[in-house]
Amino acid sequence: MELTKYLLFCLTWSFIRAAPRCKYKSDKKPELICRSSEENYILKRGLVSDNNRTSSVTLRGCRVSGVEYEAFENMPSLKYIDLSQNSISELKLGVLDDIKTVTHLNLSYNALTTFPIGLFDQLPNLSTLDLTSNSLENIELVVFDTLQKLKYLNLADNNISTIKGSVFKTLKRLKSIILRGNKLTSLPVELFQDMKNLANIDLSHNSISTINVNSFHGTSVKNLNLADNKLTYLTSNFCLELRNFAAKLTKFYFNQNPWQCACLRDIVDEVKRLGISYNSRPYDGRHPVCVTTEEFHCNRHDRFNRVYIDMYDDLVVNTKNL
Ligand SMILES: *[C@@H]1O[C@H](CO)[C@@H](O)[C@H](O)[C@H]1NC(C)=O
Ligand SMILES: *[C@@H]1O[C@H](CO)[C@@H](O)[C@H](O)[C@H]1NC(C)=O
Ligand SMILES: *[C@@H]1O[C@H](CO)[C@@H](O)[C@H](O)[C@H]1NC(C)=O
Ligand SMILES: *[C@@H]1O[C@H](CO)[C@@H](O)[C@H](O)[C@H]1NC(C)=O
Repeated sequence: MELTKYLLFCLTWSFIRAAPRCKYKSDKKPELICRSSEENYILKRGLVSDNNRTSSVTLRGCRVSGVEYEAFENMPSLKYIDLSQNSISELKLGVLDDIKTVTHLNLSYNALTTFPIGLFDQLPNLSTLDLTSNSLENIELVVFDTLQKLKYLNLADNNISTIKGSVFKTLKRLKSIILRGNKLTSLPVELFQDMKNLANIDLSHNSISTINVNSFHGTSVKNLNLADNKLTYLTSNFCLELRNFAAKLTKFYFNQNPWQCACLRDIVDEVKRLGISYNSRPYDGRHPVCVTTEEFHCNRHDRFNRVYIDMYDDLVVNTKNL
């Protein structure tokens, strides 16, 4: 008998110890902020749920390793959830179905590898979704289809190597897409096409070697970041064509690519002529600005890419060894 009591005590105690502690920022603001306990915790009904006032829940860095069904049950005023910097590796279909009112969901810095289809289906008002720094590999399925109001989607620093051309197609309101720091080598030409509101596109720190200007047809791209990829050339009048799509390109970053020097000269001439601001980062001693053979001519064809990419990589390696 005593032993059972003792065990029960231990169990309860460890349960309490394992749960983060949450309290409101102030009496006036129904914003719940939680602090980490010393142990991993699976978010369950009872910690933050069942409160009709709470508008915001911050569980940042709280050692949350999973989310149970009903964890956010009965929270009709909830708009903002920050679950970043935890160790969530999986979200089961239905766990987000209770948070229909939410507009901001931050799942960055977790360990998500994939999503069940339909995970985001019950979030009609979601406008910000941050998935930075997870382990997502391919965004093939129709996971984002129902997010009609999504404006900001951050997929930076994942492991994405392939994307199907239609994944973002239903996101009519999308303004910003961040795909920085993935493993993309190419883009389906229709990926962004006709996304009228899309103004910020960040594709930097990937391995893209070809980019078709038509990929941006029908968007309103204002800020385009192609830095640190494997581009050796762009089609001629790239920026002018972008502007002809009625897009107002104002910032264009393209440093740290194995540009053919003749092609880079054309690009720089063009951005200067059109008054587009660009990265004017000088030679940093590590990443050459461009490479050239004896023939100073812009070879606009993918079959030449390898030569310039290899020349560039050699230079990068050599300067590292200095
Ligand atoms: C919120 O919950 C309290 C206590 O359960 C209840 O008295 C109140 O009427 C509820 N308010 C709304 C707006 O639902
Ligand atoms: C999400 O959380 C991360 C880290 O906790 C933070 O840096 C980032 O700004 C947040 N994203 C948004 C859209 O607020
Ligand atoms: C979504 O937002 C609209 C407009 O703000 C609002 O009328 C509607 O009730 C919201 N839907 C949900 C499920 O919160
Ligand atoms: C990314 O994928 C590679 C294999 O392609 C794997 O070794 C690595 O651990 C993955 N990184 C992350 C952050 O998931």
